Amino acid sequence: MSAKITAPRGTFDALPDRAAQRDAVERAARELLEPAGYGRIETPAFEATELFARGVGEATDIVRKEMYSFDDGGGRSLTLRPEGTAPVCRAYVEHGMHKLPAPVKLYYLSSFFRAERPQAGRYREFWQVGAEALGSDEPALDAELIVLLHQLLGKLGVSARLRLSSLANAQTRAAYREELAGYLRANQDRLARAVRARIELNPLRAFDSDDPATRAVMAGAPLLLDRLEAADAAHFSDVRALLDAAGVPYEIDPTLVRGLDYYTRTVFEFTSDALGAQSGVAGGGRYDGLVELLGGPPTPGIGWAAGIERMILASSSAEPAAPPPPQLYIAHDGARTAAFQLLLEARAAGLRAQMELGGRSLKGQLKHAERLGARHVAILDADGSRLDGEPATDIVKRVLAS
Ligand code: HAM
Repeated sequence: MSAKITAPRGTFDALPDRAAQRDAVERAARELLEPAGYGRIETPAFEATELFARGVGEATDIVRKEMYSFDDGGGRSLTLRPEGTAPVCRAYVEHGMHKLPAPVKLYYLSSFFRAERPQAGRYREFWQVGAEALGSDEPALDAELIVLLHQLLGKLGVSARLRLSSLANAQTRAAYREELAGYLRANQDRLARAVRARIELNPLRAFDSDDPATRAVMAGAPLLLDRLEAADAAHFSDVRALLDAAGVPYEIDPTLVRGLDYYTRTVFEFTSDALGAQSGVAGGGRYDGLVELLGGPPTPGIGWAAGIERMILASSSAEPAAPPPPQLYIAHDGARTAAFQLLLEARAAGLRAQMELGGRSLKGQLKHAERLGARHVAILDADGSRLDGEPATDIVKRVLAS
């Protein structure tokens, strides 16, 4: 026997016995998002590397360490998409969607690729349901999206904590970054080595550190939330008031840092204790400068993505459901053509029907039908009539009527 080939590390096969769980997530997402005006979009699984370098940000872990990039053979660098927001904005610009009435509301159910260290709930290919709305900076749009995500998690039995913050506008954040870097430099001898190394590159990530000494330094660090300009502060306060009106509980977390550089103003994350270390179930925020950064007209945008595998892991109602049993199983003793015709007739009439396809003896077929939980079994003899004399075509009517 040849050596076995296994799936690449960090990937998984979604086998049919898990299909019901995945279907439930996808159905719940569609049932919430489509009536709210979100249309499905699917973009290619790979894009120009430049899209993510520019869109997600050169300084992020995703771009620096986690992208699957390759040469397409013609000297162009392509990358398996690590996330969906930059591709959606690319498509928005490419198809002139800014000419459509705003906001343009889109959603996707797609797989993404990140070369992360695999562990429970963290994969190298994973699936997200994501929603994006472009062309409006109306705070009610922020609230609509957060409420939809809250409802999706609720529908799936995922109990998660919502943390909320504002990352201001690009200018305020740039000034704050300098202020924070200065504070970190002044305290650098107390910082973990990894944090020290990132002071110039990405000082905000210092808030993510688990190192106790670093955490003590960060407890006294200046906060971006205290530096918001009046317009951004008012926007944030409007979003909060709408969430209050909707009865969605949240905590303000001024240290919430998302791992992608495109965010402005509102950012949020849902975390679940059921997940252990990989506690992030879903996250998102505004990205008012991203479309312009990708060559489009100035266009505000906001969205989120939720990990399908993490939602299933964190769900209290995620018991895999058995597939519904066949309504009709067609056993036969050599009458393959008659059995096949009956099978097609039964399916055309809307029945869940299966026929014998495994080369079993008649006895084996009956056992198999029982194993499947078939409601009715038709046994065709060699000339295609039923063993007890009933014409085969009446069977469909009888099963339908039962
Ligand atoms: P993200 O926070 O990087 O955001 O990912 C969103 C969700 O995808 C996470 O909360 C998690 O559930 C899931 N996820 C991420 N990485 C992995 C992994 N390696 N294995 C399993 N699940 C994972 C984004 O991707 C942004 N594009 C969200 C967004 C949309 N922001 C605005 N619009």
